Amino acid sequence: MASPPADSVFAHVAAAPEDPILGVTVAYNKDPSPLKLNLGVGAYRTEEGKPLLLNVVRKAEQQILNDGSYNKEYLPTAEFNKLSAKLIFGADSPAIQENRVTTVQGLSGTGSLRVGGEFLARHYHQRTIYLPQPTWGNHPKVFTLAGLSVKNYRYYAPATRGLDFQGLLEDLGSAPSGSIVLLHACAHNPTGVDPTPAQWEQIRQLIRSKALLPFFDSAYQGFASGSLDADAQSVRMFVADGGELLIAQSYAQNMGLYAERVGALSIVCKSADVASRVESQLKLVIRLMYSNPPTHGASIVAAILKDRELYNEWTVELKAMADRITSMRQQLFDALQARGTPGDWSHIIKQIGMFTFTGLNPGQVSFMTKEYHIYMTSDGRISMAGLSTETVPHLADAIHAAVTQVV
Ligand code: LMR
Repeated sequence: MASPPADSVFAHVAAAPEDPILGVTVAYNKDPSPLKLNLGVGAYRTEEGKPLLLNVVRKAEQQILNDGSYNKEYLPTAEFNKLSAKLIFGADSPAIQENRVTTVQGLSGTGSLRVGGEFLARHYHQRTIYLPQPTWGNHPKVFTLAGLSVKNYRYYAPATRGLDFQGLLEDLGSAPSGSIVLLHACAHNPTGVDPTPAQWEQIRQLIRSKALLPFFDSAYQGFASGSLDADAQSVRMFVADGGELLIAQSYAQNMGLYAERVGALSIVCKSADVASRVESQLKLVIRLMYSNPPTHGASIVAAILKDRELYNEWTVELKAMADRITSMRQQLFDALQARGTPGDWSHIIKQIGMFTFTGLNPGQVSFMTKEYHIYMTSDGRISMAGLSTETVPHLADAIHAAVTQVV
């Protein structure tokens, strides 16, 4: 028998860089310090720092297991799709009533964005997508791989740690007609900065007047304000004008179904006829990528959304998560005030959702990791959901030291 060649045929493969978000957890896991704190990845934690399995999810799973007719056949997702559309667009949405919405199940937010991107690259006349600057690190890579070309529009103003509204209007105003525009439906990641309702209305008018195509990413419905309806307002504004749009929904955060990879992609069209042809093409994209979506997570979501009691219980648990995050914001702000930490930290309580974009620079971030074992992304984003009353003082000490000792 011939001996195998000495060198691997893959010997030339270079190691990929760590993911800027998930790599933070890899580094955190290697740190033996008992003080270590992971504020990198946006994943909800309890006051005890533990992942949370929602009670309502536990109940829904039990119900599914007790249902003798449950099986692992290829998934008939019609029910899940309808319920997901209703959740984001509202039960009385005219677009749903007129059958102008097509919804397909996606692999959480990322998979839904990817399917939407591929569909646009194949069937839409414009290949350029405008992303807010900054945006979630996965966005540019997902859309580039899907075949779109990525550009940015101004979004965040470092000086105010708020919205660069003028810059946003200028950049979208000069985008070529038909360009795709990625919008975070609520709780912008990474900045925690959302437009006000009046600003959303101006953005809507601009987008429609220039015939730009909105593509919403809704990863935090219910997490920003604690209300599912309030967090869907931006999207509903765009549906109400009768225009077209795409939206990717994720149940990772609001149902804590991170690893189940359950989400949805909806496209609102002008007519039922167009919607049904669009749907056939979406199914084709999916068939060639992963054939069928997984069933378990979608069954849990559908069980919760269709049952009034479970739904109500979910809204209570969701509100409790949102409230805990808001309370962390206040506690961190108070702790920095108490320490007399130089600078204006009011953005911690003004920003919304899971993340605070602290304004700390990469040097200060690495100082906090090295000296205080606090892990966060190098852009200074911290996941408020990873904090607790017990760990706030440690973080406040670290921030205080960083801003007073590192330029
Ligand atoms: C995050 O931004 O931390 C989350 O969306 C999780 C992820 O996959 O990046």
